[in-house]
Amino acid sequence: MRRPLIIANWKLHKGLEETKAYADRLKGALTDEPEYPNVDLAICPPFPLIHPLSEMLRESPVAVGAQNVSIRVEGAFTGEVGINQLKDTGAQIVILGHSERRNVFNETDDLIAEKLALVLTETNLTPVLCVGESLQVREKGEQAAFTTRQLESALHNVSDELAGRIVIAYEPIWAIGTGVNATPGDAQAMCKAIRQVFAARFGENAGSELRILYGGSIKPANWRDIFAGEDVDGGLVGGASLDATDFFALYQIALGS
Ligand code: 13P
Repeated sequence: MRRPLIIANWKLHKGLEETKAYADRLKGALTDEPEYPNVDLAICPPFPLIHPLSEMLRESPVAVGAQNVSIRVEGAFTGEVGINQLKDTGAQIVILGHSERRNVFNETDDLIAEKLALVLTETNLTPVLCVGESLQVREKGEQAAFTTRQLESALHNVSDELAGRIVIAYEPIWAIGTGVNATPGDAQAMCKAIRQVFAARFGENAGSELRILYGGSIKPANWRDIFAGEDVDGGLVGGASLDATDFFALYQIALGS
């Protein structure tokens, strides 16, 4: 049985005060929830907020993570944040290969594969590997082939023993921040295709245990139908996660399904 997981990706939003208000609101909402809920929640704020947020959420079931990590571990690499700093901040997960990293900061498939291998071999962090096609690719009907290729490239160096720690997020680029979400049927079809690729690479068991998230214009209004997909195990949420009430609503929908 796969535990659902909903991750807030705050991207480049919020300061310390807003973070505190958000954490208070979320903790308040969670007080009436079961002590051991069967839906996992996580928030990935910008780097400087990881440590304060993990302190604020220490008594709560909400995990905190990073949106990226450097391939460099230590040295003269101005502006980078490495795995050792992440470990020290209280981060438990790390998003890798987000389309904004790929497209705005030119991260290549090879770099993402290296980062994934580094996180798996040198840390206990849960890597959330993002894949997904552009509108151009979707219009040609090549989304499954494209996403499969991205996935196979990222998994290239992963051993069978470590594969079970990976979470995958299917985020079609045309749905990110556009208000146009994938239809529940499209999200399900792509998550199923991803599971098949993973199973072919690491075995049926690993495939059936893999958690696959959908991301792209998730809102409380569309979430129930998307999350109903058999292979959709949760969400990676941008815009709607900036509001603690909306984020909590997504969680409750997942709890109730
Ligand atoms: P939106 O939910 O704002 O579309 O962003 C999705 C996303 O990129 C999460 O990583």
